[in-house]
Amino acid sequence: MLKRAVIEDLVILLRGFFATPMISSLGRLGVLEEMRQAESFSASAFTRVANTKLLEDTFRYFARLGLLERVDGSEGHYRASELGQEVFRRANSFYVPHSYFEYMHRYHDLIQDGKSAVVCQVERLENVIGSGITHLRYFPPAVSYLKRKAAFELLVDIGCGDGQFLTSFLEAVPDKRVIGVDLSSVSTETTLGNLRTRFPQTDVATVCCDALDVQTWSLEVRRLAGNARIAFSMWFLLHEISRNRTDILVDFFRRIAMVFPDAPIVVGEVVRQSEEVLLGNSAASLMPEYLFFHEMSGRGSLPWQGYREVLAQIPYELVQERLFDEASDSSGQKIPSTFVWCLKPEAQVKAAEVKEL
Ligand SMILES: C[S@@+](CC[C@H](N)C(=O)[O-])C[C@H]1O[C@@H](n2cnc3c(N)ncnc32)[C@H](O)[C@@H]1O
Repeated sequence: MLKRAVIEDLVILLRGFFATPMISSLGRLGVLEEMRQAESFSASAFTRVANTKLLEDTFRYFARLGLLERVDGSEGHYRASELGQEVFRRANSFYVPHSYFEYMHRYHDLIQDGKSAVVCQVERLENVIGSGITHLRYFPPAVSYLKRKAAFELLVDIGCGDGQFLTSFLEAVPDKRVIGVDLSSVSTETTLGNLRTRFPQTDVATVCCDALDVQTWSLEVRRLAGNARIAFSMWFLLHEISRNRTDILVDFFRRIAMVFPDAPIVVGEVVRQSEEVLLGNSAASLMPEYLFFHEMSGRGSLPWQGYREVLAQIPYELVQERLFDEASDSSGQKIPSTFVWCLKPEAQVKAAEVKEL
């Protein structure tokens, strides 16, 4: 007979297949938030949801998982359980994994396709909304650095997603101008819409361009910026452009430094932890899934050592570092799963040293 622990692991492996699309969908429709706020509810109360029967089925399923409780034991009348409150509050954690649904849905085609004929797309809007909210926790140290320690008038966020970082930044530093750069027009349009609604007085622009094409976007940024002093931010962009190669990132930073030699940069990025750390922490971390869909879709998070090698070869000095969710590897070295760096151009550091002499 199978051991109880094995059965539970099997159920965990299977459950996400059902629960993830449901939680992602109901989260995006605002249903989960309403369920959290309401004292009690039934499916018919959600008039925005056209398929009431499917919602009823979903509620029964959630009740069987312990996410909902029946009010007074009555059929069809529920409230969110303590577990449901916690899970529904974190619905946005489901968006990024779920945005890769086409790859998973077509996995059976992909695995039989030796010629890369099957092409899948990430659901961009769900991806950028999910990324923005998921990444909120990493922004404060960088916002604080940009507010207190960096001299500039205009912030350029490369790989701006839905503009969540620029929003956090403008909330803390409302008197700056901002530009969002992204390869995806869904991102630049969403960023522009979000920022114009939230900060109608702020000078906001976007540029739709490949980050690696520094020559093209820098011309546009220069034209929009005029004489304004510039700072850069890039959140979870490096793994999108690295193709697992440090030299690509070194070249990218060097080209930015050539065009904008005085501009400080804040970087937030995910680290590829060792296989041993990933295995040891697999029950409490979604990193194996994140790395899988990065690898499967041609993205490349570097190991911690790789990012340190990039840093050693670019003309920037690390002035502030924040490491998140560190875990020890076999040699006892602490490896973060995410890091934030605040970088000052060497040109500025040297000028400050000359001034001090
Ligand atoms: C993981 S999301 C992060 C979004 C946002 N920076 C955040 O932290 O929420 C990566 C973003 O980089 C953009 N991106 C991917 N490849 C890019 C490239 N080559 N040039 C510019 N942007 C790119 C994607 O469209 C997406 O908006």
